Amino acid sequence: MQAFPIFLKLDGRPVLLAGGGDAAAAKLRLLRAAGASVRVVATDPEPCVADQVDGVQVQLFRSETINEHLENVIFAIIGTEDEDTDRSFAAVARAAGVTVNVVDRPALSDFTMPAIVDRSPVTVAISTGGAAPALARQVRGAVEAALPARLGALAGFIDSFRSAVAAGRATPKARRKFWDAFLSGPVARKVLDGEEETARQDMLTLVNQDDRSITTGRVAIVGAGPGDAELLTLKAHRLLKQADVIVHDKLVGAGVLELARRDARLVYVGKSRGNHHRTQDEINALLVAEAQAGHLVVRLKGGDPFIFGRGGEEVAFLHAHDVEVEVVPGITAAAGCAAAAGFPLTHRGKASAVTFLSGQGRDGAPDLDWQALGQSNHTLAIYMGIDTAEVSARELIAHGRSPATPVAVIENGTLPTQRVLRGRLDALPALVRSERVTTPALLVIGDVTGETIDTAVAQDRRALAH
Ligand SMILES: C[S@@+](CC[C@H](N)C(=O)[O-])C[C@H]1O[C@@H](n2cnc3c(N)ncnc32)[C@H](O)[C@@H]1O
Repeated sequence: MQAFPIFLKLDGRPVLLAGGGDAAAAKLRLLRAAGASVRVVATDPEPCVADQVDGVQVQLFRSETINEHLENVIFAIIGTEDEDTDRSFAAVARAAGVTVNVVDRPALSDFTMPAIVDRSPVTVAISTGGAAPALARQVRGAVEAALPARLGALAGFIDSFRSAVAAGRATPKARRKFWDAFLSGPVARKVLDGEEETARQDMLTLVNQDDRSITTGRVAIVGAGPGDAELLTLKAHRLLKQADVIVHDKLVGAGVLELARRDARLVYVGKSRGNHHRTQDEINALLVAEAQAGHLVVRLKGGDPFIFGRGGEEVAFLHAHDVEVEVVPGITAAAGCAAAAGFPLTHRGKASAVTFLSGQGRDGAPDLDWQALGQSNHTLAIYMGIDTAEVSARELIAHGRSPATPVAVIENGTLPTQRVLRGRLDALPALVRSERVTTPALLVIGDVTGETIDTAVAQDRRALAH
C-alpha cells in the first residue's frame, strides 16, 4: 500500500485552500460538504469560487501569500493552476509544518484526494496513488453503478436501530448474525426501495423475534436484454452481483453471465425447440425451492421477462407459494435489434404504431388478427417467426400489405455475430431460406426498416464484427 487511507472529521476545523479557478472550486465544494471551515486565498477568484464564499464557513483572503493564513490549519490544498505558484505555496506550507495536497500534482503532494462515491454516511474513496486519475474515475463509475442509490438511507436506518438490536443480543457474534441476516432480508430491501416507514414498523417486530425468521429468500425475475451485456439495467447488474443462485435461459448472453457474483450458483434451464431441458413446471418448482431455502434467486431471461418471456406465469406461481418476487425489465429484442440495425420502430409518416407479435401460435402456426395487421403505417416485430415467415408474408399480403413492403431480419441482434438482412415482404420466405437464418432472429416488417439511421450501437456492432 503506497499511502495510508483515512477518513478525517473536519467539522468546523480550519483548512486552507489556495486558488480561485475551477480546480479550487471543485475542492471547495467537497470541503464545504465535509463541514470544514475554509480559508480561501485567491487574489481574483472566479465566480465558481467567489459564489461559494459566505464569510462564515468559507472566508476569502485576497492575498498573494499564504503564510499568514496557515495558523492551526489541519491541511492545505493548493490549486492555483500555475505550476510555479503551486510549487512555492506547497514549500511555504510544508515549512510551516502543514500537510499539503497540490491539485493534479502528486509529486508535490503529501496526500492525494481520492475519487469519491458519496452515499453519505457511506463513502467509498478510490485512489491510484495519483498514478492514473482517469482509471480512478472509471472505477468510481463501476462502484457508482454497483451500489444502490439509497445505501446512505440504509446506513442511517441501521444506526437508528443499533441499540435496540444490541439490547436483545448479548454477544458481538449474535449481533453480527442479526445484521448479516437483516441485510439480505426484506426489511433492508424495503429501505432501499424507499419504503422506509413500512420498514420501520417491520423492524420493530424483527428486533424482538427469533433471528432465524429474518433469512427469507426471494426471486427477482430479471430481463437480461437481447445479448449485449452493456444493455443491462443498473438494477439487473446489481442483482447479478448479489444473487446466490442465477437461473438462466438460453438467450442470455455469455457477457451477461460473466457479471454474476463469482460464487453464485448458475443453473441453466434453457429450452430449445424439441429439447426441453427443464419444463416450465420444473423451473417454477426450482425457483420456489431455492427461495424457500433462503436464497436470493435471480431468474434471468433474455430480453424483457414480460414480453414473450413467461414472466407472468412465474410471478403468479411464486405469489401462489408466498415467495416475494420483483420484476426487473430488460430491453426487448425488438428495441435492441432496431437500434443495432439502425432503424427506428416508429417514424413520423412511416409508422405510427408498432406491434410485438409471436410467430408461434398454439398449434405452431401464428394465431393473429391479420386483418388488423394488414394496415400500413404500422411496424410489426415478429418474435420466433423464422419457421412461419411464409405464412406471415402470405397473410399480410392477402390482408392489404403491399408485396413491396420493406422487411428486415435481424439474427443475433446486438451481439458481435449480428446479421441484418433486408428485402421485401413477398421475398421474405426466400430470404430466410437462402440465408439459412438461425435463431434467435427477429422479423421486422414495415417502411421503417428501409430507414438507415447510423446509431452508435450499429457502429459498435460493425466494429466488433470486423
Ligand atoms: C421466447 S422469445 C423471448 C423474447 C424476450 N423476452 C424479449 O423480450 O426479447 C425469443 C425470441 O426473441 C427474439 N430474440 C431474442 N433475442 C434476440 C436477438 N438477440 N436477436 C434477434 N432476435 C432475438 C427471437 O425472435 C427469439 O426467437
